[in-house]
Amino acid sequence: MSARLLVFDSGIGGLSVLREIRRQLPSADIAYVADDAGFPYGDWEAEPLSDHIVSLMGRLIEHHRPDAVVIACNTASTLVLPPLRAAHALPFIGTVPAIKPAAERSGSHVVGVLATPGTMKRDYTRELIRDFARDCHVRLVGSSELAPLAEAVMRGESVADAAIRTEIEPAFIEVDGKRTDTIVLACTHYPFLIDRLKAVAPWPVAWIDPSEAIARRVLSVLELARDADGVAARPGRAYLTSGKPWPRQLTPVLAEMGLEGEPS
Ligand code: DGL
Repeated sequence: MSARLLVFDSGIGGLSVLREIRRQLPSADIAYVADDAGFPYGDWEAEPLSDHIVSLMGRLIEHHRPDAVVIACNTASTLVLPPLRAAHALPFIGTVPAIKPAAERSGSHVVGVLATPGTMKRDYTRELIRDFARDCHVRLVGSSELAPLAEAVMRGESVADAAIRTEIEPAFIEVDGKRTDTIVLACTHYPFLIDRLKAVAPWPVAWIDPSEAIARRVLSVLELARDADGVAARPGRAYLTSGKPWPRQLTPVLAEMGLEGEPS
């Protein structure tokens, strides 16, 4: 029996996590849901966002009947994992800022965190810094623009380097003669921009993308071993909460992820 997974994000950023799950568990039966009706989550106030996701997730679980749910969104995970776990007897695997690995890796002890404004404001994020990065100077940067820019890039639209550079520059700082050397991609949209980020970064840094670790966590929670090499990817389905068809420009991205969505 293959695992039935519901992978959820506000948009198409969660596909960066799905891609890694696919690599490790191609046999998984996956439904991907993008809450395009609510996108972007980054600027929502915490309480309405939490109520919105809890009520939406109730309907999605009812409909898709997954064995586990992957909240492939930092903005949601740093807020709604406790109420979701309280409401459903199902494993929820979240995506939270990879501050601990970044702090362990940083040589300069100056770390940047690129996130949405929502993730930046969360107590959860502050607690991660307090618990795991006490000896680091952490610069949290919440951008309202970067996730929509990532979506534009994924749709094949042209996005100016300057637009991306403006959003990431505040994470590049110098403190007591030491510069940022490690940056956490604390929004699942950002790994899709990695080549652009590297190209416009003021200086080279290590970029921490937690997608692979999250996929490993999915396997460990479900007590599954990785699929053997050569196992064929089981076709999955992708849904938009608006009920709209998927933009045709995203058909190649969905196909690359082994997903079918109704195109426009
Ligand atoms: N992909 C989402 C995250 O990881 C956020 C994008 C948004 O809706 O603002 O935080």
